[in-house]
Amino acid sequence: MPYYRVVGEVPRKRHTQFRRPDGGLYAEELMGEEGFSSDSSLLYHRYLPTAIIKAEAVTPPASGTRLEPNLPLSPRHFRTQELAGAGDLVNGRILLAGNGDVRLSYATSDRPSELYRNSMGDECVYVQRGSVRFESTYGVIEAGEGDYVVVPTGTIHRWVPDGQVNVLAIEASGHIRPPKRYLSQYGQLLEHAPYCERDLRGPSQTLLVEGEEVPVLVRTRGGLTRLVYRNHPFDVVGWDGYLYPYAFNINDFEPIVKKTHAPPPVHQTFEGPGFVVCSFCPRPLDYHPEAIPIPYNHHNVDSDEFMFYVGGDYTARQGSGIDVGSVSLHPAGFTHGPQPGAVEAVIDAVSRGVTTTSEMAVMVDTFRPLDLAPGALSCEDPGYAWTWAR
Ligand SMILES: [Fe+2]
Repeated sequence: MPYYRVVGEVPRKRHTQFRRPDGGLYAEELMGEEGFSSDSSLLYHRYLPTAIIKAEAVTPPASGTRLEPNLPLSPRHFRTQELAGAGDLVNGRILLAGNGDVRLSYATSDRPSELYRNSMGDECVYVQRGSVRFESTYGVIEAGEGDYVVVPTGTIHRWVPDGQVNVLAIEASGHIRPPKRYLSQYGQLLEHAPYCERDLRGPSQTLLVEGEEVPVLVRTRGGLTRLVYRNHPFDVVGWDGYLYPYAFNINDFEPIVKKTHAPPPVHQTFEGPGFVVCSFCPRPLDYHPEAIPIPYNHHNVDSDEFMFYVGGDYTARQGSGIDVGSVSLHPAGFTHGPQPGAVEAVIDAVSRGVTTTSEMAVMVDTFRPLDLAPGALSCEDPGYAWTWAR
């Protein structure tokens, strides 16, 4: 996280005696990245954050998580609209695609998740539809349509939907951060960045819950474990630092426009190890008098492009069957571009006075090939690969 935040009560000096009203000591905990060498926060607990009373192995789901290479190599179209919800926003995730760097899943749920700690990496959960309360040791974030909720590695949290919620979960194998090129050497978002600190919503007050023998599902590289804590982990009376969950709404992204077509790096919102996340938002069309304001055919030889269409009218994909809720996967090894007729259609639209695009999409570009999961193949549109040749 690029800036300092303090919530609740913290002692004036770190690592000094900080006492409860009954005279006992609060328990200080450092949550820190990269071994004391990167962002961290100090949290003050009512109870020991180390006090566990049981550890149970959890058997992962037998099916649904097996990844297969994208063979024979094809562009793909998956229709998440056809995926039925099951479970909660953690256990009910339907894996679509993934590799050693990132896992991409879709989930629909209206029920609260259990307490969860992902110790494999950060998560970025995009709320496609609905409202959900994100509860954590750092406090609460109320999230809604268009929010990316970035959850740092190891944050104990749970999701409490208000009605049905649909999300795309981006699970990294490391940390998800704003693009480095948009940050000053000390981490401030620069003036040319497409968003700034005011757009990031961290928890604003602590969340205190009493409880005993509270299970927390913990994911590590080794598998799943359910640790039972003696006291409820939501016992933090205050914290401060640079590391905490936050939300950023896609509508607060400020698109960067060129005179002729700008490539996806202008839409970049986050970066993680081996991937980037981009937000395609409504914006003025490219304004050169003879501009073709949709993408040219392109082959990013080092990337697989996973595009989740979340709103508006996707001009470049007309005639492909892609609709809101669709995911396209354009892998390395395949040149992709607008569907036949799309270029002519947009030139015609501009001549009739259209000056803006309404497209809204979340793109994850990976630098290693994405393998496919049964969840994606179960909702695949098999005709998509041939739509450019029609
Ligand atoms: Fe592309």
